[in-house]
Amino acid sequence: MDAREMKIKAAEVALSHVEDGMRLGIGTGSTAEEFVRLLAEKVAGGFRVEGVPTSERTARLCVELGVPLKSLDELPALDLTIDGADEVDSNLRLIKGGGGALLREKIVAAASEKMIVIADESKLVDTLGAFALPIEVNIFGLVATRIAIEKHASRLGLSGKLTLRQSGDGDFTTDGGHYIIDASFGRIPDAEALSNALYSIPGVVEHGLFLNMATLAIIAGPAGARTLTANR
Ligand code: A5P
Repeated sequence: MDAREMKIKAAEVALSHVEDGMRLGIGTGSTAEEFVRLLAEKVAGGFRVEGVPTSERTARLCVELGVPLKSLDELPALDLTIDGADEVDSNLRLIKGGGGALLREKIVAAASEKMIVIADESKLVDTLGAFALPIEVNIFGLVATRIAIEKHASRLGLSGKLTLRQSGDGDFTTDGGHYIIDASFGRIPDAEALSNALYSIPGVVEHGLFLNMATLAIIAGPAGARTLTANR
């Protein structure tokens, strides 16, 4: 099984958790896109869902494939969100935001009764942090915000390069019009403490640590998919 086949496998298992009539948060990224493709086939066959997309990119794909969409304001309480992740640990703590959609992804997941993460097994880690943590920041005061991130991280014993994400020949901006700083901490032993510290910085809009949010993770490997449950 190659990487794409594993993503499709995880998406297939996730689809079996989707019931007719559900209000569904729809994630962003290559794995979530495989889920959208499978969902669209079911919708074409008469299955009813209402989806809330977590990015403009996902919204475009859903429209193209005929998956019915609503805004989160129209559907503020969702049954289930299905989304990918950049890292998943055994407690289903996640790093997300590699695709830049972390703010909407977190808002949508928080409005959902359940969140299922779909990923190939390369995303499963013992400790979060090898993947640079995306931190969405306001454009105003970027330098001050960056210094504050360094200071708070250093108090927690974390250091590493903070890189302003680029796209094409300019700075990457999110759907919300913010920048992303990718923080290469290497290892984040206390994700809760880092999350709280980042939330205390006014210029930080959101960060990619998704803690106590995922209900299940469907992890696909060459031998098939397995489902992990959070220990909480
Ligand atoms: C989007 O902002 C991210 O949170 C994605 O969910 C994450 O990067 C996983 O993407 P892939 O499925 O493409 O690896």
